[in-house]
Amino acid sequence: MTSGAASSRTVRVDLAGRGYDIVIGPGLIDRIGEFAAPLLAAPRVIVISDDTVEPLYGARVAASFERVGIQAGRVVVPAGESSKEFGAFARLMNELLDRRPDRKTTLVALGGGVVGDLTGFAAAVLLRGVDFIQVPTTLLAQVDSSVGGKTGINTRHGKNLIGAFYQPRLVVADTEVLDTLPRRELLAGYAEVAKYGLIDAPAFWEWCEENGPDLLAGDAAKRTYAIEQSCLAKARIVAADERETTDLRALLNLGHTFGHALEAETGFGPDLLHGEAVGTGMAMAFDLSARLGLCPADDAARVRRHLGAVGLPMRLRGIGGTNRRQWDASRLIEHMRGDKKAEAGRLTFILARGIGKAFVTRDVKEDAVRALLDSAIAA
Ligand code: NAD
Ligand code: GLY
Repeated sequence: MTSGAASSRTVRVDLAGRGYDIVIGPGLIDRIGEFAAPLLAAPRVIVISDDTVEPLYGARVAASFERVGIQAGRVVVPAGESSKEFGAFARLMNELLDRRPDRKTTLVALGGGVVGDLTGFAAAVLLRGVDFIQVPTTLLAQVDSSVGGKTGINTRHGKNLIGAFYQPRLVVADTEVLDTLPRRELLAGYAEVAKYGLIDAPAFWEWCEENGPDLLAGDAAKRTYAIEQSCLAKARIVAADERETTDLRALLNLGHTFGHALEAETGFGPDLLHGEAVGTGMAMAFDLSARLGLCPADDAARVRRHLGAVGLPMRLRGIGGTNRRQWDASRLIEHMRGDKKAEAGRLTFILARGIGKAFVTRDVKEDAVRALLDSAIAA
């Protein structure tokens, strides 16, 4: 699944007839046109970005297409989750249609998970489906959201409730663009990196314990390695369970049941980023596993120690301003029930028998969850 020269690496997502490459490495932002050219149905793309990323990289991406004779239009949406709202999606679709695309036009998502999810869904429905390419610019998007074809937008009923499984034709992850990413966003993405170790790769988790701080400090080779390992893990799972019809892909939701409840309670806003919620949620999932006697207490402590040491929030008390938020176990459980992973009101958890031994269960008693939440709130 992996090939590539010393500085860049390629991971293949194997999906019959719809497989694609993820190219990872430094300086790739200036070579996107070159990678994309052989895949395009016509020499025309529209690059969708947000108003933070576009001024940083929009012109370079467009120039990379124009150098190889590909016309590149540019559309900009506001940065942030609000661009995944229905109204914002409608505005984007009209703006795209104003440019008179045809079914051979390819959309390019240049940005984090918001732009990727939005552009992917736009591509799935524009003229009943056009191709799209992911150029993820956050660590979270490079290791998770740009890979695997989950696309979608939000509604007042919840996040990502309208969407499609729609795979990109190519993913290009330039490790250098992470240099402009705020540290907090980088850390949030790191939680998703560490997640792959915790799911089923204990050696990779150990690598994270040892090398995570260097990666976060900017070590280019370690960034490339971590993104490659993460994409290999995700590509393997997606190839085996593209539409989450078995429990395999659900393993990628480690930390998400607790994390989703925390995000819902904080309004999916800046108080708690998605990746931060996943980090806190993974520590809570390991704590619950240890309490239930499924996982050694030492493993749960290790998870908390490493994620906390790099700077991810491990205590509920500090989230959204110390003591400002009044957490409530019953409300958090209600949020869990509203999560789309809940089946007929039964909570789904990804728990673990140890580091690298995650599994899906729908048999956790609510009392145990409540007790865990009560002590997390008190800590
Ligand atoms: P994001 O897209 O909002 O990006 C975070 C912030 O960083 C934004 O302000 C953005 O403008 C800025 N930014 C992006 N790249 C930058 C760069 N290189 N330099 C400077 N600033 C930069 O957030 P995200 O964390 O990337 O993605 C979160 C979204 O992803 C959520 O909507 C979530 O639902 C979705 N998601 C989807 C999947 C999936 O499988 N499709 C998986 C996980 C998360
Ligand atoms: N981020 C979870 C998934 O892609 O399935």
